[in-house]
Amino acid sequence: MAQQTKRKVLITGGTGFIGSNLAMRLLETDTEVEVVLFDRNPDLSRLTGFKSSVPGVKDRYTPVKDRITFVQGDLTILPHVLALFDNHEPDSVFHLGALLSAGAESNPTMGFKVDTVGSWHVFEAARIYCQHAGRPPIRLLFPSTIASFGQFIAAGALVPNEAVQMPTTMYGVAKVSVERLGEYYTRKGWIDFRAVRYPSVIGASRGPGGTTVYSTLMVQEPARDPPRPYFAYVGADTRLDIIYISEALDAIVGLHDAPAAALVKSNRRVYNIAGFRNAGQAPTAAEIKAAVLAQIPAARIEFSTTPIEATVKSFGVLDDSAAMADWAWKKQGRLDLNKAVEAFIDEVRAYPDRIKSLELFGA
Ligand SMILES: NC(=O)c1ccc[n+]([C@@H]2O[C@H](COP(=O)([O-])OP(=O)(O)OC[C@H]3O[C@@H](n4cnc5c(N)ncnc54)[C@H](O)[C@@H]3O)[C@@H](O)[C@H]2O)c1
Repeated sequence: MAQQTKRKVLITGGTGFIGSNLAMRLLETDTEVEVVLFDRNPDLSRLTGFKSSVPGVKDRYTPVKDRITFVQGDLTILPHVLALFDNHEPDSVFHLGALLSAGAESNPTMGFKVDTVGSWHVFEAARIYCQHAGRPPIRLLFPSTIASFGQFIAAGALVPNEAVQMPTTMYGVAKVSVERLGEYYTRKGWIDFRAVRYPSVIGASRGPGGTTVYSTLMVQEPARDPPRPYFAYVGADTRLDIIYISEALDAIVGLHDAPAAALVKSNRRVYNIAGFRNAGQAPTAAEIKAAVLAQIPAARIEFSTTPIEATVKSFGVLDDSAAMADWAWKKQGRLDLNKAVEAFIDEVRAYPDRIKSLELFGA
């Protein structure tokens, strides 16, 4: 008998790195969830790759595939986004579709259109949908970034939730605009906007296109079959706030599920989420390498200093005490770097087809 689904979740950027992992998380933890993935890129291999070609590895795709709907469309085209809400009537929205920092910086006009105008399209479509359907404001989750702070944050400094945001990139400017717009739409009672500010998210199948991608590729490349060497474009002592994908999902799903009353009390809608800490500090590239070598002693990872290193070093580290105070974000039980790297390597080896697909888009 066909399964009755009770909760429809729309994920923009649904075929991307975080979107595909979020879809799998929601589908596997609740059999009553159905996901609608909206993306301009129709390559579903980050999801279909969960049906592994490695003998003996669990097929995670087949049991959930009937609850996945893919809609190809473009966030910059308002009618695409309006039709998405009309046709699929979601119960919640995770708006993850975006050009990442390098993409937005190499084409700032397109960066503005996708990241700022595209987000406004999602807000407007959500507002109109709720008003026409006479339903309460829809929960709309958004991932902002450590890169939204920019100038006036001392390199490596702890960044409080309400630190001044003076971003220096089109990507950062868009994220701050969307944060403020989301708060405005919420104050008007049009949507129930909630956002996390992530540090760099590492995990299997992250795409190219971010200044911090070395932190993923240092783990991913040596774990592949056959193993690949990796030449990082930063020095060994470079520190970076990073979080593993499973914990990044815990944060955005946790904020989605947080009772409205908790957020109303503090009047906050946007929360810093911190990554791994060792004695209060974010990991160095050398520490990531050591965690990889503990699993793969023959891994070849080398470092060199390039101009990108200064940008990486300019980021602060996120203080997430506001999230802990307002909606019970984890105070304890955080993953440590070594455990995360081990899980990451296991996933690369178990589901290699999710990763090979990235070669379609270049290294
Ligand atoms: N990966 C990180 O470290 C990180 C850190 C902070 C915030 N974020 C945010 O998380 C979100 C997802 O990031 P990701 O790492 O999964 O990136 P990703 O590039 O893997 O996913 C983004 C998706 O958006 C889609 N997209 C781009 N332009 C579009 C358009 N015009 N219309 C429809 N779809 C479009 C892409 O095709 C892609 O599948 C983004 O908003 C990103 O800014 C990511």
